[in-house]
Amino acid sequence: VVGIGKDEFFLASDATPIIEYTDQVIYLEDEEICHIRRGKELKIVNLHNVEKKHTIEQVTLSLGQIEKGGYPHFMIKEIMDQPACMMDCMRGRINVEASNIVLSAIIDNKDKLLSARRFIIVACGTSWHAGLIGKHLIESFCRIPVEVEYASEFRYRNPVVSEDDVVIAISQSGETADTLAAVELAKQKGAFIYGICNAIGASIPRATHTGSYIHVGPEIGVASTKAFTGQVAVLTMLALTLAREKGTIDEDTFRTVLKEFSRIPEQMQQVLTLNDKIAELSKIFTYAHNFIYLGRGYSYPVALEGALKLKEISYIHAEGYPAAEMKHGPIALIDAEMPVVVLATKNRLYEKVLSNVQEIKARKGRVIALITEGDTVMPGIADFCIELPDLPECLTPLISTLPLQLLAYHIAVCKGLDVDQPRNLAKSVTVE
Ligand code: AGP
Repeated sequence: VVGIGKDEFFLASDATPIIEYTDQVIYLEDEEICHIRRGKELKIVNLHNVEKKHTIEQVTLSLGQIEKGGYPHFMIKEIMDQPACMMDCMRGRINVEASNIVLSAIIDNKDKLLSARRFIIVACGTSWHAGLIGKHLIESFCRIPVEVEYASEFRYRNPVVSEDDVVIAISQSGETADTLAAVELAKQKGAFIYGICNAIGASIPRATHTGSYIHVGPEIGVASTKAFTGQVAVLTMLALTLAREKGTIDEDTFRTVLKEFSRIPEQMQQVLTLNDKIAELSKIFTYAHNFIYLGRGYSYPVALEGALKLKEISYIHAEGYPAAEMKHGPIALIDAEMPVVVLATKNRLYEKVLSNVQEIKARKGRVIALITEGDTVMPGIADFCIELPDLPECLTPLISTLPLQLLAYHIAVCKGLDVDQPRNLAKSVTVE
């Protein structure tokens, strides 16, 4: 992107670092070259030196959105901002009284989406974890098969993709090289591409046929937090809307889930009051060398995401597993030195997760359990319990992710690490 100032120009990979100086920008296309010369007009040409027309766009970002707002790190600001981000993400899209969700991308492309043979979700890292939750939502509510692929694998696998497929590309930055390449490949094979991105005007939203922005504002901390909950929120709205259009959800379920969904910002606010408690808890585990995160169903991707957050900012080795897989290997790792974070909210599989916790305790592992408020059984078994509000199972990831973000954050702070810019990582992975 090129920023146009007064007698000066700026170059950056997105508009965020430029906004301090100018809100006038030009987004360059692939294979365009921008000539910037002192005292001369800016000129854009293609590889054959043919001049290209350009449009100056006004960026709507405000400086406040890219400042820490009194917090010591961007990451904690972005965690704490999630209730407000959720409201921004839902604004103008949901109407509880009218029991309606409006996603313009779905209205405009209803036939294409409803006639899809299957959905393929392509993404990397945290966005891939959101994709796993998307699969669960779309398959449960819409009865459409969904595959979730690492974009980096998909692009080199010569995948079977056809015109009957819809590919959903999820990316916070909209610039991830592997995800962009996966989009281009799927497009060549005739698939219809739906983008779920955060950065407005980035390469992926420009390369897709349609899409929905998550509207959570710029995310600056390298560890993705509010973008994850924004992606899950958009996937929830997408699944509910398509299910209603397809007639695969009954009206009562739609109304109940939508009503509870609209209350997510206040539920998040309640969960964030646990911050001090989690900060205390993190002191106990600062010097752990390993962590295991367990969850089932909708909570399995949350376990993966919790483990990724811990790895990337605290440099503690952590693995996320589906809880029932524990007996197929990871249980061998459990001893008194192994903290195990268990997503154990009340749902169909609660009893089974409870028995996993008993197995861990029998081997002296230390259990931090995320439970539903009012659960009187788990506090008698687990070492530490974090209580979460009672929600329909499909909405729990929007809430249960927050304590795991806070746990990773506070452990990294206790270790004195650079939370916002962890070693070896970049915010936008624009190379392979
Ligand atoms: C998340 O905390 C990571 N830093 C990383 O896994 C990230 O989610 C991944 O690189 C994908 O980025 P994107 O959403 O911008 O495409």
